[in-house]
Amino acid sequence: MASRNKSLLVVIVHLLVVFTAIMIPACAQLTTDFYEKSCPQALGLIRSAVARAINRESRMGASLLRLHFHDCFVNGCDGSILLDDTDTFTGEKTAIPNLNSVRGFDVVDEIKSTLNEKCKGNVVSCADILAVASRDSVDLLGGTSYEVLLGRRDARTASFNDANTNLPTPFFSSSQLVSIFESHGLKLKDLVVLSGGHTLGLARCVNFRTRIYNETNIDSNFKASRQKICPATGGDDNTTALDGTTPAKFDTAYFKGLIGSKGLLHSDQELFKGDGGESDSLVQYYNNNPKKFYKDFGDSMIKMGNMNVLTGNDGEIRMNCRKVNN
Ligand code: HEM
Ligand SMILES: *[C@@H]1O[C@H](CO)[C@@H](O)[C@H](O)[C@H]1NC(C)=O
Ligand SMILES: *[C@@H]1O[C@H](CO)[C@@H](O)[C@H](O)[C@H]1NC(C)=O
Repeated sequence: MASRNKSLLVVIVHLLVVFTAIMIPACAQLTTDFYEKSCPQALGLIRSAVARAINRESRMGASLLRLHFHDCFVNGCDGSILLDDTDTFTGEKTAIPNLNSVRGFDVVDEIKSTLNEKCKGNVVSCADILAVASRDSVDLLGGTSYEVLLGRRDARTASFNDANTNLPTPFFSSSQLVSIFESHGLKLKDLVVLSGGHTLGLARCVNFRTRIYNETNIDSNFKASRQKICPATGGDDNTTALDGTTPAKFDTAYFKGLIGSKGLLHSDQELFKGDGGESDSLVQYYNNNPKKFYKDFGDSMIKMGNMNVLTGNDGEIRMNCRKVNN
């Protein structure tokens, strides 16, 4: 009997070891219910703050979505883009793709301080705020909602250099776009779907000037009208809608524009060359199937949102999204 009990004990201990080994990686995964116990109001509070911000300025939805993208592509979705420069540290905000361009930091601060107050403490990470605010922006502006995975933690560093090298530029060719997305584990389909984020928001003249003055695969009326907004010299910060028509509506106008040679950025038009390639087919498919675009956009956002996340005890939950904790 004693030896039978002993072997039972051995079995139990073994099982515990195996279970613990299985549980550790499981805890390090993102989950949809991460804040359910610690702050059940969190997601509702973020959504209403995003709705208020969009009511004040419809462009804000676009700006919040872009912040999440620029966060995720630079060493993962870790809130690094939100860190201010300090005397001893240059962060991502002044890197070329971000300087005078990314916006929405005040809205993130507002959301964070509401959460700190209503959750009675520092519970929700800045990286998760960006992921949820992006989803809510898409949903509030006419897209389809999707379940955001949560539990990201915030980085204690940011990289000016990585922000300059890990983000695509509007002057990239299709092969450069494909390869930078591949370097982040994203496929051509994700590239086309996520570029559909340009159904929202505006771009500055400096980013599309060469396209409207020097390129030939462009609709002539579109070219003339954009040249009025964006002079050959000066007016670098003049803006116009990335999708040509409805910058505050999540729809398929972006894809329709590409098919009509009305892509605003060189990089946009690279996705539809009229050569019948795989990228052309994806653009046509999403233009013809808005519901598929909305669904696949959510799937690719979840994929992007999982890139190199910090979980468990890695990183921290920042008290103030602009600075690391002491
Ligand atoms: C595929 C490569 C991409 C390139 C080269 C690119 C480039 C750009 C550029 C140059 C601008 C205008 C910035 C300015 O003029 O100040 C812009 C705006 C924007 N981008 Fe992208 N982008 C890309 C992918 C994405 C992705 C994947 C998303 C989101 C899923 C996204 C979302 C946005 C949004 C929403 C805006 C407008 C922001 C606002 O109005 O505040 N972009 N992008
Ligand atoms: C267009 O191309 C010409 C010749 O390469 C160049 O001199 C000019 O600066 C370009 N214009 C713009 C707006 O990029
Ligand atoms: C764009 O910029 C130029 C030069 O700063 C300015 O004169 C012009 O009115 C602007 N155009 C538009 C449409 O905003």
